[in-house]
Amino acid sequence: MTMKKATERYDLQTGELSGEYASHSRKKLSQLKGVFADGTAFAAMDGEQLVYEVSAHMAVKEGTPGGLFFGTSTIHPGRVGNEYFMTKGHFHNKRECAEYYWGISGEGVLLLMDENRRCTAEQVQPGSLHYIGGYLAHRLINTGESDLVVGACWGSDAGHDYGSIETAGFSARVLCENGKAVLKESH
Ligand code: F6R
Ligand code: MN
Repeated sequence: MTMKKATERYDLQTGELSGEYASHSRKKLSQLKGVFADGTAFAAMDGEQLVYEVSAHMAVKEGTPGGLFFGTSTIHPGRVGNEYFMTKGHFHNKRECAEYYWGISGEGVLLLMDENRRCTAEQVQPGSLHYIGGYLAHRLINTGESDLVVGACWGSDAGHDYGSIETAGFSARVLCENGKAVLKESH
């Protein structure tokens, strides 16, 4: 019997993923049209500005029943008007599929919304662990001045439904007021 060398890597300090199954994607401001409330501030900004990056470790094909995916999301610091940089947010296609998030570095908020549009929010910081139950849309918001880095693990058959968030958004936003992050109901 031979012992295989580990070729897939996860940096415990930074959350950086590498290896055969790691892939990386980036979201620029221009890809987030309609996500932020202040359309005028959005239009005045450079669309090339990087808002967030996702590294994912996918050892099986998307949609494989029973498999797992593992990822690291990095949301850069910044604002559109008084609204902090954040991810698009999504429900899982298979609504019952849950997910784990954990804070690696930086400070932020995990915004959750159920199918009746009721929102709750959890503070994310290094070492915080977040169980995102099924039937909950989820979005990460960077309320700090450095990168917000968050680990994630979810089912390979969960899928992503961005459509309902693109249409109706979340019913709450996290805004900067007098230098502080505040949770505001929207509609
Ligand atoms: C996977 C998951 C995260 C997000 C990532 C980017 O199910 O929740 O890996 O995909 O934080 O956010 P979205 O996908 O909303 O652009
Ligand atoms: Mn998810």
